[in-house]
Amino acid sequence: MDALTCIKTRMSIRKFKTETVPANVLTEIIDTAKWSPSYKNSQPWEIIILSGEKKKALSRKLVELLENNVPPCPDLAPPESWPEPENNRINLLYQQRFEASGIDLKDPGVIQQAKKVNFNFYGAPHAIYLLQDKSLSQWSLFDLGLFAQSLMLAAHAKGLGTVPQAFVTDYAEDVKNFLDIPTDKRLVLGISIGYPDLDSPANGLRTTREETDNILTFFE
Ligand SMILES: Cc1cc2nc3c(=O)[nH]c(=O)nc-3n(C[C@H](O)[C@H](O)[C@H](O)COP(=O)(O)O)c2cc1C
Repeated sequence: MDALTCIKTRMSIRKFKTETVPANVLTEIIDTAKWSPSYKNSQPWEIIILSGEKKKALSRKLVELLENNVPPCPDLAPPESWPEPENNRINLLYQQRFEASGIDLKDPGVIQQAKKVNFNFYGAPHAIYLLQDKSLSQWSLFDLGLFAQSLMLAAHAKGLGTVPQAFVTDYAEDVKNFLDIPTDKRLVLGISIGYPDLDSPANGLRTTREETDNILTFFE
């Protein structure tokens, strides 16, 4: 698959086959993603991959915290509001989700249910966490975003599916305790990974994008 096709056909996968991914394939994806650019080549990324019993036990822990109404405390605070163009795009996504699956993401009860499915890593056989030192600047966060996209594209090129998940960082301290990770690490993003179940309605929605004319300005 050429790079342009890879970028344009990647999509978030929310239903996976149960088959596990060989460790050498997972390693190859990280081996590829580490060629992402970073500020002064600082490479501010650390990667954890959870599988099998360890992944299931973390899912149980996260669901338990949710069911006990423990308030989320992610290392990166979720946005409290959005300016207009971004807010309109979010509303469009909610509308498309509702039309495709009847799921209303504006309903708090639905959010609670959606979080549970997120905490079960959408049934993926592996869960990735991306971390970095908390003392690193916003540029390093930017770099980790580049790394995350490279990882998801490399996975897609290998026939795997991924979904980036802010939700699975809700209980950052608990995740770090569970994995014996020092508290001075910033838990930035989770990514479920596995073979995509493309026949599932959960993978039926292809999101849209803004017209290029609305985001691009040429000056001469
Ligand atoms: C930083 C970030 C956090 C996200 N968090 C979640 C999440 O917690 N749960 C989820 O199902 N999708 C999550 N997504 C996926 C977005 O909803 C998705 O990327 C967006 O709707 C565009 O769809 P696409 O990935 O299929 O192109 C996240 C994406 C990003 C980049």
